[in-house]
Amino acid sequence: MVGRGLFITFEGTDGAGKTTQIQRLSRDLKNANYDVCLTREPGGTLISEQIRDMLLNPDHSEMAATTELLLYAASRAQHVSEVIKPALTEGKIVISSRFADATVVYQGYGRGLDLDRINYLNWMATDGVTPDVTFVLDLPVVIGLQRVQKSRGGLDRLEREKIEFHQRLRDGYRALAQQEPQRLKIIDAQATPDQVYAQIQAIIQPLLQK
Ligand SMILES: Nc1ncnc2c1ncn2[C@@H]1O[C@H](COP(=O)(O)OP(=O)(O)OP(=O)(O)O)[C@@H](O)[C@H]1O
Ligand SMILES: [Mg+2]
Repeated sequence: MVGRGLFITFEGTDGAGKTTQIQRLSRDLKNANYDVCLTREPGGTLISEQIRDMLLNPDHSEMAATTELLLYAASRAQHVSEVIKPALTEGKIVISSRFADATVVYQGYGRGLDLDRINYLNWMATDGVTPDVTFVLDLPVVIGLQRVQKSRGGLDRLEREKIEFHQRLRDGYRALAQQEPQRLKIIDAQATPDQVYAQIQAIIQPLLQK
């Protein structure tokens, strides 16, 4: 933890409900007079959002896996130094949709890049900033992909990857949660939004009272 702030991240495969839950949580925290900084990866700063556009551009299907990894790391380094660290130092609650775990899972478990290299790049990019709690919204990948298709019509470059790729991501998140159960909390994301939110609240409330 940096300063007096609280750093909360949300992870999970596409359509798991991250945005839905983050909006509820930030609204409730703001209503309870907490100073909330809402952000996302890749993105969160002007530079990082430009890198995000490069990463998610459907025309970039020829992007090499290592290029992708380095762009994520660059985006994260800027995000940490410009947004996350300063906000935590000011005592804010920072909520990010995706963070370093996403790179371990997507580039490591998903694309098969070397986990040691990824962890090293994350170590560089995060500058020692680790989430206090990470919610892993877990559900069968097909259900998540169906939710995304219904809500948006089209799929972006990453979402178009095959179902097996997403299955590896789900397995990756579960593996991380087993390795660090005190930080990563598996949430049943197949339930209704209210039920999902109740699981999150049960974990957040004790942290707020510290
Ligand atoms: N618990 C739920 N049950 C059913 N539908 C849901 C649930 N949570 C979210 N949805 C719907 O599923 C779609 C995807 O949700 P959301 O955008 O919150 O997911 P996400 O994890 O942020 O997705 P992405 O990875 O694409 O950013 C939305 O249409 C949302 O309304
Ligand atoms: Mg989202």
